Amino acid sequence: MNFLNKLKQFRDYENQLKWEGTFADYLELVKKNPQIAQSAHSRVYQMIVSAGVSEKDGHKHYHFFDGQIYGLDEAIERLVEEYFHPAAKRLDVKKRILLLMGPVSGGKSTIVTMLKRGLEKYSWTDDGAIYAIKDCPMHEDPLHLIPAHLRDDFFEETGIRIEGNLSPLNTMRLEKDYDGKIENVPVERIFLSEDKRVGIGTFSPSDPKSQDIADLTGSIDFSTIAEFGSESDPRAYRFDGELNKANRGLMEFQEMLKCDEKFLWHLLSLTQEGNFKAGRFALISADELIVAHTNETEYRTFISNKKNEALHSRMIVMPVPYNLKVGEEEKIYQKLISESDVADVHVAPHALRTAAIFSILTRLKESKGRGIDLVKKMRLYDGEMVEGYNAADIKELQHEFSDEGMSGIDPRYVINRISSAIIRKGVPSINALDILRSIKEGLDQHPSITDEDRERYTEFIATARREYDELAKREVQKAFVYSFEESAKTLMDNYLDNVEAYCNRNKIFDPITGDEIDPDEKLMRSIEEQIGISENAKKAFREEILIRISAYARKGRRFNYKSHERLQEAIQKKLFADLKDVVKITTSSKTPDETQLKRINEVIARLVDEYGYNTTSANELLRYVGSLLNR
Ligand SMILES: Nc1ncnc2c1ncn2[C@@H]1O[C@H](COP(=O)(O)OP(=O)(O)OP(=O)(O)O)[C@@H](O)[C@H]1O
Ligand SMILES: [Mg+2]
Repeated sequence: MNFLNKLKQFRDYENQLKWEGTFADYLELVKKNPQIAQSAHSRVYQMIVSAGVSEKDGHKHYHFFDGQIYGLDEAIERLVEEYFHPAAKRLDVKKRILLLMGPVSGGKSTIVTMLKRGLEKYSWTDDGAIYAIKDCPMHEDPLHLIPAHLRDDFFEETGIRIEGNLSPLNTMRLEKDYDGKIENVPVERIFLSEDKRVGIGTFSPSDPKSQDIADLTGSIDFSTIAEFGSESDPRAYRFDGELNKANRGLMEFQEMLKCDEKFLWHLLSLTQEGNFKAGRFALISADELIVAHTNETEYRTFISNKKNEALHSRMIVMPVPYNLKVGEEEKIYQKLISESDVADVHVAPHALRTAAIFSILTRLKESKGRGIDLVKKMRLYDGEMVEGYNAADIKELQHEFSDEGMSGIDPRYVINRISSAIIRKGVPSINALDILRSIKEGLDQHPSITDEDRERYTEFIATARREYDELAKREVQKAFVYSFEESAKTLMDNYLDNVEAYCNRNKIFDPITGDEIDPDEKLMRSIEEQIGISENAKKAFREEILIRISAYARKGRRFNYKSHERLQEAIQKKLFADLKDVVKITTSSKTPDETQLKRINEVIARLVDEYGYNTTSANELLRYVGSLLNR
């Protein structure tokens, strides 16, 4: 019932938004809100911007793409600033075809689909409202009715520049039906919809022999020629090609470079003059954004052919590389899994991250002469701190290769391997090792991977696994401590008390016996040794920490266990070292005794409650870490 109500509500809402009037009424609307008369390019830009823009580190982030596109901030920023924005301002790029160029499965279609769905929704809003000459198959812009000699005056009055001529069909209707009185021509509000073929179109090449140019520009309607007497009567023509239907919005040109040349030539005049030729009519003006996409190989073949020069110069090529951030790649997998049939399968923590590490490594290029290995580069790109490198280094690395991210493993491949691992395992729970194994098996069957790449990729699987091993060990060790953060804090406080006493040559007060005792050198050293601080360096290290504490105090900030990176590392390692034997024995014992069993159950409960595992994945983790520690 609730649902039926919603349906009705929506219908009411639709009816509310509908608008019909004469051209004279429309002019009033335009004067009040000139935005409704904007061009298709401008509408796309406004739509993107209206979803919000934020700025970080001098780069813009467009929220329009949130939740669907991850890790492509820079490509998108470029797309908006070098195409959408200038095109919206009627600069010349507007006349170019936008060509997204990138590796397979890198998000090109997703970007275009978002623009299409976005435009549909935007046309329902006040800011995105669009009006058209009523019952026009091309939803022609009503302002086209204004004759050329009055357009300058119109511009003076409203600030709106009119581009494009009235189409043959509407020219005829104006004369025949409205006696040339443009103010009486009916206008309606339209709502873009790909399904209804209003303002959104898709063209994809099929067999060039059978595919007709009519698919793009419409065709003669033979059933009505007899009625109207001539092929050049626009009423005997069906303006129902994709270019016609996408007028006022956006047309996606799929696999454009696979298309037969004769189709591409039509685009030449469209992109240059903003009009195209159909049937025996004068040129038809079109106001639409044309987006095409292609991969690099096809693109290279295309530009290497001299014949394509004219077309090539009318394109704006925008690279859409693969994402290069591990964290963002994880989100892509999460998104793809949540959209799939296996959405309810439990994916153990770090499993997707491990797969992402592998994927990103295959996409990165080895930097020359900077002494940075791929794993470090991967960390830097992901926003982690890596000793010895700063923000300027990252920038430099990112600019070293123009084609970094244009090759490597694609997200679809990884998702396919995850799905097949899930199906094979038969348990609704999957972990990092299952995924890596499946990726590895897939490489052998992958037809388009060269032997050389296969070898490199196998190496990366091993690297990803090593990264996972560290994560897994740390996780289990943490789970072994009743409250890890609490223990770390206690240990640090204890260490700091001792360091303070040592540096100030004081004694320490023993709360149990009430005695004054010497600082506990053994304790301090056992922590410092974890990070390789030698006997000679210990004094300097301790003093440095005290200086840091007083610096914190001066600024009114609290020094805590995370305030000093190396100290934090030392404390963690010390805790883990103390635990190592317990963890090792407990996790690897084939016949655990009662206390061990109790401990294991506690750890599993903690992994489930606090770390996001389920019992299957927690047990698998413990067993795996047990085997690691016993190596
Ligand atoms: N950077 C990304 N952010 C979010 N999802 C992505 C990203 N890259 C790829 N994907 C996802 O991977 C899948 C494939 O992407 P999509 O179909 O958009 O790629 P494409 O570039 O059009 O590929 P093709 O060249 O094969 O047509 C989609 O489900 C898409 O959502
Ligand atoms: Mg695609």
